[in-house]
Amino acid sequence: MTPPDIRLINPSNKKPLKVQDGQLIDDDGNSFPLKEGAYRFVQDDNYTANFGFQWNKFQKTQIDRFQRTVDQSRERFFAVTKWDKIDLTNQNILEVGSGAGRFSQIVLNHTNANLYSVDYSNAVEANFRNNGPHPRFHLFQGSVYDLPFAPAQFDKVFCFGVLQHTPDFKRSVGALVEMVKPGGELIVDFYPVKGWYTKLHAKYLLRPFTRNMNHETLLSRIEANAGWLISASRFFDTIGLGRIVNRFLPVCDIRTTIPRELDKTALREWVILDTFDMFSPAHDHPQRLDVVGQWFKSFGLTEVEKLTIPYGDGNTVTAVRGKKPTT
Ligand SMILES: C[S@@+](CC[C@H](N)C(=O)[O-])C[C@H]1O[C@@H](n2cnc3c(N)ncnc32)[C@H](O)[C@@H]1O
Repeated sequence: MTPPDIRLINPSNKKPLKVQDGQLIDDDGNSFPLKEGAYRFVQDDNYTANFGFQWNKFQKTQIDRFQRTVDQSRERFFAVTKWDKIDLTNQNILEVGSGAGRFSQIVLNHTNANLYSVDYSNAVEANFRNNGPHPRFHLFQGSVYDLPFAPAQFDKVFCFGVLQHTPDFKRSVGALVEMVKPGGELIVDFYPVKGWYTKLHAKYLLRPFTRNMNHETLLSRIEANAGWLISASRFFDTIGLGRIVNRFLPVCDIRTTIPRELDKTALREWVILDTFDMFSPAHDHPQRLDVVGQWFKSFGLTEVEKLTIPYGDGNTVTAVRGKKPTT
């Protein structure tokens, strides 16, 4: 890995870090190792262990580069950010909650930006196997609440599919805002609260049990039931009852979240991954679009846009973007 251009700090004492003997070290001698492609600031046994398990198990499933027909991540990334590939050349981009690196791959393969990706789980290992080593790629295992970067350095910060899985959504937004440089931009997407019915869903009814289950046990239950759940979900869609009935089936929303062009085997794999992703996280706190927009403003961002963006076949992403003023 080439030395990062961004000033790195020890999140605990805010002292600068320098690269020495393949690790990061501060003046007090505190050091953070480079292991399997990522600098490590935290241990694996935190509230995101489910994501480490998930992304290392399903490392390639959602990565465009490994799919023959699906370009979902690229389409979603540019539909949501509206960033111009050429404008991004040499810019410093921060990605928080990178998972297996589906969006890291898009930045690295479709732009010439420098990418700093962070995840709290050991999913960073899957990301590195998918996307590293790469001269413009810098990978860190750490938390959004204790990022190893001096404030206000990034041209762009993005955080996709993560905030609802953090314990304090608003505080997470504040931590991301702090990373944006004057004139830079933050964009986040998240699960929206659409109304009283949002939580009337198999996911929220069963999560009190499933989120504490052993990961292997939960996964094998999902695998054992995937076949009939896919058939049932399809059946209710065909007879026009899918919108009402399928929310009570303990399976991910196949019609709107899984790409249509997948073959049977790939579809089953995506369904198992997305269903595990819905039942296993410690935190799942959807939020109202208006509220997140207000938080952006309260943290001093301007040109705040609240977005519901269509992509793919009938999918939408709920997102908020804003800019940090230059003065
Ligand atoms: C649903 S996954 C999304 C991953 C990726 N952005 C994607 O769309 O495929 C959420 C990710 O957020 C990470 N995450 C959760 N809390 C975090 C925190 N406090 N700091 C950094 N990452 C966090 C999890 O480890 C997980 O990999």
